[in-house]
Amino acid sequence: MARLIVVSNRVSAPVRNAERAGGLEVALQAVFKNHPGVWFGWSGRVVASKEEIETRTTELDGQQYIVTDLTREDNKEYYNGFANRVLWPILHYRLDLAEYSFRDLTGYLRVNEHFADEIHKIIQPDDIVWVHDYHLIPLAKALRERGHRNKIGFFLHIPLPPPEILTALPGHDRLFHSFYDYDLIGFQTETDRVNFARYLVNDCKLATRDLETFLAGDRTIKLGAFPVSIDVDEVARWSQQGARSKLARELEGSLGGRKMIIGVDRLDYSKGLIERMRSFGKFLEQYPHWQNRVAYIQVTPRSRSKIQEYADMDAQVGSMVGKINGTYGQVAWTPIRYVNKSYARSSLAALYRLGSVGLVTPLRDGMNLVAKEYVASQNPADPGVLILSRFAGASHELSGAMLVNPYDTDSVADAIDQALNMTLEERRERHEQSFEALKANDIALWGERFLNELAMKSSELSMFAAAFPKAG
Ligand code: F6P
Repeated sequence: MARLIVVSNRVSAPVRNAERAGGLEVALQAVFKNHPGVWFGWSGRVVASKEEIETRTTELDGQQYIVTDLTREDNKEYYNGFANRVLWPILHYRLDLAEYSFRDLTGYLRVNEHFADEIHKIIQPDDIVWVHDYHLIPLAKALRERGHRNKIGFFLHIPLPPPEILTALPGHDRLFHSFYDYDLIGFQTETDRVNFARYLVNDCKLATRDLETFLAGDRTIKLGAFPVSIDVDEVARWSQQGARSKLARELEGSLGGRKMIIGVDRLDYSKGLIERMRSFGKFLEQYPHWQNRVAYIQVTPRSRSKIQEYADMDAQVGSMVGKINGTYGQVAWTPIRYVNKSYARSSLAALYRLGSVGLVTPLRDGMNLVAKEYVASQNPADPGVLILSRFAGASHELSGAMLVNPYDTDSVADAIDQALNMTLEERRERHEQSFEALKANDIALWGERFLNELAMKSSELSMFAAAFPKAG
């Protein structure tokens, strides 16, 4: 296969602890196992001025990492601004939280141009380029403008809402038309794919016969759903080995025989933490016999804390935890243990295994790999129960989970009680169902499916284009 160039905002540079990486990085590490190539992105370093920007290359085991710096202005306008205060909320269906500014859009486009300039220096004609996530939508266009005709694919790790929401973004047409320069656009679920297909038909008036392949000028683009996953065997192994670790034994000892509920989420409004705390408070109120018989561990590393909405949330969740602990806690029992710390994924796997209930209730989530890791970590002979938001992409696959509406805090409270009371037989059945689904879509398949589709695309599509009238 031709050389693969992957581009994403975050790069799991070899010096970083891979076990601490987020979902995108974990998925891409798995792709590189089979296709060593180049991984290009932000170094994580912020410099004072343009003149101080450096681009550095590192090599490890035949794999190249090329990272470049951002200026303070770039960081403010591109990362904290347009990517995370405009696109992130809109794509998570939160128009109410979007803070649009033309200046941030300019910074977003500037960083995409900078990335394209750097890639331009190293790209070869038969390289395959795979761009990831909402930070980099205009990158293919910027590369085409520099004369590159390579195959370029894009994968969106977060949700894609219906056109009625997308069109609320000022200048949506200009931004989303830059998707036309990709050959293949991948989404987490069929729902996301269909939402974008509807946008292309209704708002961009592109011609299509099957809502999968579209004609845009003289180019064809293809859409597909490629649900991202985890390395199931690796996570299962971590959880078995971790069960004997110091951390797991300490935690188990501290439970004093109480059942454990576990939640692990980045501190982000999309994760539904406020609603989850409300549900847990209702659970303790409506099912008082569980008081002092459960411990809810919520691991929530802070993220994007320079953004006001995240700082507000931090304060709000902290005060709700304090209130619930104050109301229901006893001198020898703290209902919620709220930890703003990040743990290695291998340690988390051991914690998931101890959890009688995994509470994963985002208000909207592209996939949610915590849900998948919770299932993979369970002891099949005595598994815990996953309570999963119907608005997480993972709910399309994990059919054994108890699906809930996170906004309906009364029914989430009821679901916690049901999960804690569930018979071993039902727990095993549910776990088996979800585990089968995980095995059927392991992470290795994700990259293969996308790259095969991208490689196939040109021959298939030239036939399609020839048979199709020009878009009107
Ligand atoms: O999955 C969405 C995503 O934005 C990834 O692109 C990113 O790696 C992860 O969430 C964490 O976000 P951030 O890079 O802003 O810390």
